Amino acid sequence: MSEALGGLESRRILVRADLNVPLDAGGRIADDFRVEATLPTIRWLTGRGAAVVVCSHLGRPGGEPDSRYSLAPVRERLAERAPGVELLENLRFNRGETGNDDRFVQELVEGCHGYVNEAFGASHRAHASIVGPPRYLPSAAGSLLARETEVLLGLRAAPKRPFVAVLGGAKVSDKLGVIAALLGIADEVVIGGGMCFTFLAALGHPVGDSLLQADQVEACSHLLASGARIRLPSDITALAPGERVVQAGVDLRPGWRGLDIGPGSAAEFSDLIADAGTVLWNGPMGLFEDPRFAAGTKVVAQAMATTRAFTVVGGGDSAAAVRRFGLDREMDHVSTGGGASLELIERGDLPGLEALRNSQTYRKGVANG
Ligand code: 3PG
Repeated sequence: MSEALGGLESRRILVRADLNVPLDAGGRIADDFRVEATLPTIRWLTGRGAAVVVCSHLGRPGGEPDSRYSLAPVRERLAERAPGVELLENLRFNRGETGNDDRFVQELVEGCHGYVNEAFGASHRAHASIVGPPRYLPSAAGSLLARETEVLLGLRAAPKRPFVAVLGGAKVSDKLGVIAALLGIADEVVIGGGMCFTFLAALGHPVGDSLLQADQVEACSHLLASGARIRLPSDITALAPGERVVQAGVDLRPGWRGLDIGPGSAAEFSDLIADAGTVLWNGPMGLFEDPRFAAGTKVVAQAMATTRAFTVVGGGDSAAAVRRFGLDREMDHVSTGGGASLELIERGDLPGLEALRNSQTYRKGVANG
């Protein structure tokens, strides 16, 4: 909806994208999902005559230029995929970005006629490029940001039931907030990945040398005692001394390190996914980068691909996993945001969305909807 931005011909439009892509050891783009996801908005704008200036962060440099975090490889890719589009250098080379410094905002908007937030994955950060430009420029949401928001808020407000949330990943401390929120929304909360061991420990199971956040055991006990439907694995694939891969129940011996859910748990979780109306998946079930511990994550991904439920993959590692297994096209929605999708589900809002709504020039339009 270009009316949110006014005319576009020969106008300079600042697009905040999330081009925070993984780079391999040689500095090449290892996964260009976020670059590709941004192209429709950029092309829509250039197709209407706008001069597009894209800006993004990459990694977490300490507020000054650092060649390891240069956006140069992304600039090269963008030149191939959307010729003629300018990409500024990493916003986080300037302390004003994370510090939300108004002088930095003014530098960014200088000479621009409009702003599009297409950085869903960074919209949970109250950083200068996310919350600043809507104060100064006619502003709009990009179509990706709009779609992400619609899907995740829809899932939060009126999911088709039963709603099964499958959560994994290493650290339970990162996910306690979203687990608590999901317990009030989902019919089943399934927990795998490294964080299941803190829950298993809270139930009194010995977890051997598995990842354990001892300071979170009490919080997990509290969640388990709330009477909510939390499903934990009933078996584990572990690495035992001598590099032996062993199948175990949930009581692990000293020296054993649980690195994946076991086949029984994978089958149980798959059954829940098959019978669901909606499935949200965030976080791998194990160390899927190692083929010895990829089975749990793969079985869950396959169950997601074949269920008739509406399937949403939260970004980050689980999105990387479905792409690695070649199943991303089988999902209804794969989010480009990791932390952002969790925060939106938890809180129902993000600083980047609030900034757009509060912009005096924002007319509830998407740039290319
Ligand atoms: C992400 O990868 O989740 C986003 O790009 C945000 O990055 P950040 O956690 O460094 O702010």
